[in-house]
Amino acid sequence: MTPLHRIEERLHALTVRQAIGWVIGTNLFLVGLAFVLPADGETRGPALLSILGNFHILALHIPAAVLLVVPLFEFFERHEQATATVRRLSVFSAAGTWAAVLCGIVHAHYNGFSGESIQLHLWGGIAASIFAGIASLLLSQGFLLRLVGQVVAIGVMGFAAHVGGELQHGEGFPFKANTKASPKKEETPRVVTTSQKRDDYTQVIRPILEAHCVECHGAKKVKGKLRMDTLEALKKGGSEGSAFVAGDLKKSLMHVRVTLDPADDEFMPTEGNPLTKEQVQAIALWIEAKPIPDDVAKLALAATKAPKQAPKK
Ligand code: HEC
Repeated sequence: MTPLHRIEERLHALTVRQAIGWVIGTNLFLVGLAFVLPADGETRGPALLSILGNFHILALHIPAAVLLVVPLFEFFERHEQATATVRRLSVFSAAGTWAAVLCGIVHAHYNGFSGESIQLHLWGGIAASIFAGIASLLLSQGFLLRLVGQVVAIGVMGFAAHVGGELQHGEGFPFKANTKASPKKEETPRVVTTSQKRDDYTQVIRPILEAHCVECHGAKKVKGKLRMDTLEALKKGGSEGSAFVAGDLKKSLMHVRVTLDPADDEFMPTEGNPLTKEQVQAIALWIEAKPIPDDVAKLALAATKAPKQAPKK
């Protein structure tokens, strides 16, 4: 008898109460863990746990795929009692979902994730694990009830997966078309047109912020409660105030922070290349509502392509 058969026998021997106890217990553990290891945007060691966290991205696809095929087998077999195949797949998908969520909580806590979408994804994931568990509990029931359980679990998983997909691939994913394939959509051209025709925010400032700031001040991470991926977010600012106040360099924290002494704790960006002279100049001119000269814009944009320095300790 292989170890897998032994596990299967143990599972078979569980009473209904014990099985329910397992589903509740294991998922309460996840809820507890989410509070003990909050997604607060800090990155931390040890390396082993941050690597385990990275495995979330890999691990989550397996249970998701298996969860999807369970009703397919149910449908083809259509037995009043769940077949061995259906049982194995269903229990495997529930256990796999649980493990993927566990890695996800570790990923968020150790690898610096925070923000509303992360919270939605996290709790959606825990809900998916609970519903995958419930689908397994329903294995002792008739065909229809089992099928309903599985379809609901897939729905909840689909929601959590969608939020996760948007986090990874950007808002609107997967329904956002490639901008190259549909050139009519507004995109951020790297080619600088003449200053009369240019919108300085979308064509100069936003690309600079996207290249140097948004990785820590965007949908994925929201350091200092500040997002810098839209103009509204810049105006709204973070915990210390607005990042952009039209006409006021001293109040515009996005300018203040990049013009400090680079050795200052508050200097931005905290990692990677500091902004170049032209980039800082472009930001200052934009805040003061003055047009950015073509040569400054060109140099500022060219520098967004510079390779990143190793993070400073
Ligand atoms: C590697 C991560 C990282 C990058 C990149 C980064 N920041 Fe920050 N930023 C932080 C952290 C962490 C904080 C919160 C601590 C603090 O206030 O210094 C912060 C806070 C801020 C704040 C204060 C927010 C508030 O109201 O509390 C501003 C303004 C800011 N950053 C601007 C920028 C600008 C402009 C850039 C790009 C040039 C940038 N940051 C790039 C990590 C980063």
